[in-house]
Amino acid sequence: MPFLSDTLARVSPSPTVAVSQKAMELKAAGHDVIGLGAGEPDFDTPDNIKAAAIAAIEAGKTKYTAVDGIPEVKLAICAKFKRENGLDYTPSQVTVSTGGKQVLYNALLATLNPGDEVIIPAPYWVSYPDMVRLGGGEPVIVETTLEDGFRISPEALEAAITPKTKWFIFNSPSNPTGAGYGHNQLKALTDVLMRHPHVWVMTDDMYEHLAYDGFQFCTPAQVEPGLYDRTLTVNGVSKSYAMTGWRIGYAAGPEHLIAAMRKLQSQSTTNPCSISQWATVEALNGPQEFLAERNEAFRKRRDLVVAGLNACEGITCAVPEGAFYVYPSIAGCIGKTSAGGTLIDTDEAFATALLEEHGVAVVFGAAFGLSPYFRVSYATSDEALTEACNRIQAFCAGLS
Ligand SMILES: Cc1ncc(COP(=O)(O)O)c(C=O)c1O
Repeated sequence: MPFLSDTLARVSPSPTVAVSQKAMELKAAGHDVIGLGAGEPDFDTPDNIKAAAIAAIEAGKTKYTAVDGIPEVKLAICAKFKRENGLDYTPSQVTVSTGGKQVLYNALLATLNPGDEVIIPAPYWVSYPDMVRLGGGEPVIVETTLEDGFRISPEALEAAITPKTKWFIFNSPSNPTGAGYGHNQLKALTDVLMRHPHVWVMTDDMYEHLAYDGFQFCTPAQVEPGLYDRTLTVNGVSKSYAMTGWRIGYAAGPEHLIAAMRKLQSQSTTNPCSISQWATVEALNGPQEFLAERNEAFRKRRDLVVAGLNACEGITCAVPEGAFYVYPSIAGCIGKTSAGGTLIDTDEAFATALLEEHGVAVVFGAAFGLSPYFRVSYATSDEALTEACNRIQAFCAGLS
């Protein structure tokens, strides 16, 4: 009898974590490594949010709470959805979990039966397909292209829908491409979904606030109110408020779905950290001005990185609307050999040789389901980004 479960065999370890691990090992061994793999802002959590957490500790708010969130945080979330997205939700339609990851996981595990299909546009955030598999479902991957701005077309979405489709997972701005869908682009997708009433929408809006050049964020239930009863709108404080370590994510949707997710959470982690919930109340209700200041810094870094990468022979990099990632194509490098003698036959070979020969850690595209590309996270200092671009240029110039 095997000791490990068959379920575990259906998933692979997170490749983004593996890249960070390898970069850390090289650093610890004394190598000069620039990490462009991190999926988190390099900014600190704002002071008012930290102060709210300290006050919560001092006030003894350190006990178990309601499974899916204290009333105060649910009210703050309802107010956020109304204020920023024009969406009306009541606290019983809201759930709070240990990070956006647990929200998505709860929703999939609570709804998937064997054979259920989940449509995921590629490139995708690495965890979606594995979470679907853990839930017993089948990921249906629909590839996008650099030329289409990495956005799924309405035709491709329609073609992927079958009677077994349960969810369409939508992520804008996207990890790993930074691509965002404007109102009309999203409306074209929601029009398709309106023709298929059995398909639910899981929209991952984690990067809502990280948008540049006047990009207007929008979310499916806002663009098409007809989808309200079959949309789970997922969001969180990790990225926008630089709170990755606090582990708070949340979602709003139909009450029966939220109740099912609560039931699952009650038998796994119970409530998210009480102190982090109080910090989230302050994050959502407190001053929001710092978001614009930080976005300006991110936009400058994005422009720096896009220009630096487009100056590399064999690389083509689009200018994305949001998040803190770019997803350059290395089609022009495939088939060449690095100065260190590695044949660049895949994006994984590219990323490995770049790390070993020039000390720049990036995540290869195959990890996100679309090759030949790599992902750069530009949530790091201008100096590190400039040096990294110089090294990538040198690496590409050495390919023959
Ligand atoms: C698209 C996307 N969704 C969800 C998450 C999970 O966020 P959290 O850290 O709140 O679990 C991430 C984190 O990398 C992400 O990039």
